[in-house]
Amino acid sequence: MPASFDLTIRASTGAYDVRIGEGVFGELLAQRPDDPIIADDFFADRPELDEQRALFMAAEESNKTLAGAERLIAGLRDRGTGRSDQLLAVGGGITQDVATLVASLYMRGLVWSFVPTTLLAMADSCIGGKSSINVGPYKNLAGNFHPPAVIVVDPAFIATLEAEDRAGGLCEAMKISFCRGPQAYERYLALVADLRPDGTGAAPLLDAVLRSKQWFIEVDEFDQAERRQLNFGHTFAHALEAATGFGVSHGIAVGLGVVAAERLAVALDGDAAAQPALTDHAASLVRQAPDLAARLAERDQERFAQAFLSDKKHGADGLHVILPARGGATEERVIARGDASLALVTRALDDAIRMVTG
Ligand SMILES: NC(=O)c1ccc[n+]([C@@H]2O[C@H](COP(=O)([O-])OP(=O)(O)OC[C@H]3O[C@@H](n4cnc5c(N)ncnc54)[C@H](O)[C@@H]3O)[C@@H](O)[C@H]2O)c1
Repeated sequence: MPASFDLTIRASTGAYDVRIGEGVFGELLAQRPDDPIIADDFFADRPELDEQRALFMAAEESNKTLAGAERLIAGLRDRGTGRSDQLLAVGGGITQDVATLVASLYMRGLVWSFVPTTLLAMADSCIGGKSSINVGPYKNLAGNFHPPAVIVVDPAFIATLEAEDRAGGLCEAMKISFCRGPQAYERYLALVADLRPDGTGAAPLLDAVLRSKQWFIEVDEFDQAERRQLNFGHTFAHALEAATGFGVSHGIAVGLGVVAAERLAVALDGDAAAQPALTDHAASLVRQAPDLAARLAERDQERFAQAFLSDKKHGADGLHVILPARGGATEERVIARGDASLALVTRALDDAIRMVTG
């Protein structure tokens, strides 16, 4: 009997359920034979997602936009979707980000369900209710909160993922677990050792990681305090994605960003701030992305600096970064704006890239 786990997330809009187990996707489709579907076009050939029902989108950052959402909203109307219909979204984090916005806007809001199909979406983005939309050169600049009513996590989807997407999903899982504290991180390391590329061993790992994230999104649903810790690695990651024209996937950029954040902590506080167990594990994941050194060599340093400095998490008081804390977990630090800080940040990224690709 395959493992099956259930979580209930408490949100201000009401509680929503997460079901983890093999076969849960098929069960959901059978229960909802008529729901309109927004799906990643990777699944365009699946007979259960026929074109009468499904609107497909390419999972590309260039589609995670207001224009991408508008196309889907018009497509739903073309298919006769009404106010009382429920929407089903099937895909990874990109599909989810757009579907969340579409579900929140279509006729002022549809109830929707989500089936995450990447490890990143299963372990991280599927809960928390955020949409994050790219605007012009700015990653995740616009968005809102509109959680799905039901999330079903079917580890069978893992089997077809590319190595980069599998490793990238684990980078987010590692990050969440580290942010939650030493016990959660130890548990993650034990469970991830049992994960196989076909998805065997994923259910208990996903259950543990989602429970860690659950804590952050329940104590701070709207990202004002504790939940900000989950930005660990992300200021570096978003800037690196921009500097490579999204030539490095989000999850892998987060893995590199975690190493860079650790290098920045060492630059600020000395060797006692080093976290070798974390950086070794992050590096082992990041190295699974093929041809990474060549892609990183193409990065535009000026674009990296601009994107880092314009990150929406910074404040009038300085640059806000999430760094590893002494004794485990993470802490938000503020560093002064200026050339000296930018030089430290750039060196931290260069050191991280050398550690991972060297
Ligand atoms: N809203 C949130 O809370 C949140 C949290 C973390 C990340 N994100 C966003 O998520 C995005 C990254 O998401 P992602 O890593 O899931 O990537 P993704 O949605 O871009 O998918 C990655 C690739 O995997 C393919 N794919 C999807 N499912 C597959 C499967 N089962 N088998 C084979 N291929 C499959 C896609 O077609 C795509 O090529 C980023 O834009 C990031 O900003 C959002």
